[in-house]
Amino acid sequence: MNLRLQRVQRILRDSGLLGPIEKFRYLLSVVRWYRKNREFIQKHPDFKVPPKVLAYDAYSAPDWDFYKQSGEETAVFLAAISNKYLSHDIPLQVLEWGCGPGRVIRHIPNAFSGNTNTYGSDYNPATIAWCNDNIGQIKFSLNGLQPPLHFEGGYFDLIYSISVITHLSEEVSRLWVDELLRLVRPGGILVITTNGDSRKNVMRPDEIEAYESIGLVIRGKFEEGKKMYWACHSPQYLREKLFSGFEVLEHVNAGFPYTGQDYWVLRKPR
Ligand SMILES: C[S@@+](CC[C@H](N)C(=O)[O-])C[C@H]1O[C@@H](n2cnc3c(N)ncnc32)[C@H](O)[C@@H]1O
Repeated sequence: MNLRLQRVQRILRDSGLLGPIEKFRYLLSVVRWYRKNREFIQKHPDFKVPPKVLAYDAYSAPDWDFYKQSGEETAVFLAAISNKYLSHDIPLQVLEWGCGPGRVIRHIPNAFSGNTNTYGSDYNPATIAWCNDNIGQIKFSLNGLQPPLHFEGGYFDLIYSISVITHLSEEVSRLWVDELLRLVRPGGILVITTNGDSRKNVMRPDEIEAYESIGLVIRGKFEEGKKMYWACHSPQYLREKLFSGFEVLEHVNAGFPYTGQDYWVLRKPR
């Protein structure tokens, strides 16, 4: 998005008009993808797709080709990371925190060759209700905007979270990263995506200043957790503040499939 559009977005945000505009953009997106989606459903009659409003809420695009293909490829990408750092001799306990309407998690059992017990959670009750009714082999649960999740400490070998702390405040992100640290076992892995340096080109001058001095830019004035509530963290901020309880195994700038976000592979110390 260029800087002129950013300026318009800020005016809409400040005046409280971003919500109504988002509803209008949703309707436009339904029209935009209508024909392509009809073809998709003819081609994949057994593939269950979520309500469009849930897909828009999570990805801005109720586009079923994107939903299926990006989900499959991202699950394979996560399996490769898991293979690199974890033994797959016994079934892995895997959690997606902030799973949305199942884009990635529905493909995890296949991508991991059936060798997982897979769990998903989200704070959106409609999304969790749809996942529960339509996606088999996975246990879904609803959480609040703030922790906890109702699992005992060290329950998971692998937790991943795609584009979730990118929509949370500083305080709530901190609480969640602490909760994920509690939930992963010693030696287990957290894969988490963030907005970082590659987003500087969409920042306004005051945001760049905040990013470089504090390491954090928040665009609020919208419901926390929704995609129009936007957070961008510098790598230094994440290493020193949010992720300091983990060992950083990998940080790849703008390298996560399809989202173009940074990803971090973190290990809980043994
Ligand atoms: C951009 S979407 C990404 C969805 C999914 N991770 C994916 O990549 O397909 C962000 C998701 O985070 C969820 N979310 C936001 N705040 C949350 C919170 N505090 N706890 C759990 N989920 C949250 C939203 O409901 C939404 O499903």
